[in-house]
Amino acid sequence: MTTLALKGGEPVRKKPWPSWPIWGVEELKALEEVLKSGYWGGGVGESGPWETMFETSFARRHGCKYGVAVSTGTAALHVALLAADVGPGDEVVVPALTYWATGSAALMTGATVVIVDVDTETLCMDVTEVEKAITEKTKAIIPVYNYGNSPDMDELRKLADEKGIFLVEDCARAHGFQWGGKWAGSIGEMGCFSFQQGKFMTAGEGGMITTNSEEIAEKCYAIKDCGRVRNATYLEGGRYWLNWFNYRMTQFQAALLLVQLKRLDEQLERRQANCEYLSNRLSEIEGVEPLKRDSRLSKFQPWPYAFKYDASFFDGLPIDCLVEALRAEGIPASRIDHPPLYETLRPWHLGKVVRKNRYPAAENAVEKVVTIPQQVFLAGREDMDDIVEAISKVKRYARDLHPERQGTST
Ligand SMILES: Cc1ncc(COP(=O)(O)O)c(C=O)c1O
Repeated sequence: MTTLALKGGEPVRKKPWPSWPIWGVEELKALEEVLKSGYWGGGVGESGPWETMFETSFARRHGCKYGVAVSTGTAALHVALLAADVGPGDEVVVPALTYWATGSAALMTGATVVIVDVDTETLCMDVTEVEKAITEKTKAIIPVYNYGNSPDMDELRKLADEKGIFLVEDCARAHGFQWGGKWAGSIGEMGCFSFQQGKFMTAGEGGMITTNSEEIAEKCYAIKDCGRVRNATYLEGGRYWLNWFNYRMTQFQAALLLVQLKRLDEQLERRQANCEYLSNRLSEIEGVEPLKRDSRLSKFQPWPYAFKYDASFFDGLPIDCLVEALRAEGIPASRIDHPPLYETLRPWHLGKVVRKNRYPAAENAVEKVVTIPQQVFLAGREDMDDIVEAISKVKRYARDLHPERQGTST
């Protein structure tokens, strides 16, 4: 008799997983302080009081001298590309697997987005593909830290230097990451972070551009604050920057994020340790393969955690059935969390999209990768065993779930 939860058996996990976001009395105090101060909005002409503190602390924490707070991660990417003078006629190279904003931010500048395949092992941008995609028109490369993983940032940095193009890191999912002794966000000319609801630090929404260039920081500031140039050294032919938006961050967001920043290290350590433990244990199960990670990525956390699934070891069980069965067992599994860029990105305004006919690595990942959300990794080590047990259980009874062979296991 099967004991699968999907067939009425007891689920492996009955306890809830940690909820997200995490907050406490410190966040309440921070919000109250801003409320009572009456300074609620974004700084106009200069960063507001909480914004300034947050920009400084966050940038320093990520190995950068300057931080420019903005309203969202998408805004961070848009502003960063504008600060790199990306516009119509320029090309921006992005990976096939990422959230749409990586590509749409480039389209919003009027540039052409060139989509390249990911590496089969890391599911992040494949450097060889980037090299092939570079033309005389390439102005920027946007590597994305996805699935708690990293592309080869040393090679990308080298390539960008050789070709004289901008490296704009999409760190929306990479708070506190470290590659080769350098913090994510400090390897490119700019790093772009998101503080949207599900991210490792959140104020519901929010974004940040990190950089070590004063000139870039001042340009980013002017672009996000309706063109206001706050440092006279960078005035260009008048007071206002020409291409601008209102992408300001409020003091409420900044105050919350200052508290969230204090929680970052402890949470990263916990998620990383659980992620490494789970990957070791999952390697014991044939048909399940955790992503490979380069040892130069010394600090990371999964957003989301991802493993490859080979149905042939699970009696041919389709991936959707696996995901459904794991959910019934109390494991919040999903398929890849967003469709690939080559399917979703549509040219608009002036922007164009260059896609190849095939993206074998990304296509394979879309078919074969299972994901688990970040907050699960804030649980204890023993909780990771529930994930292993649930996968093993579904494997044991896979035959019972197969749409064409129901109820035949003994
Ligand atoms: C890889 C990546 N880039 C960019 C973004 C955009 O960030 P936001 O949602 O804050 O605009 C996200 C977040 O959803 C993301 O995951």
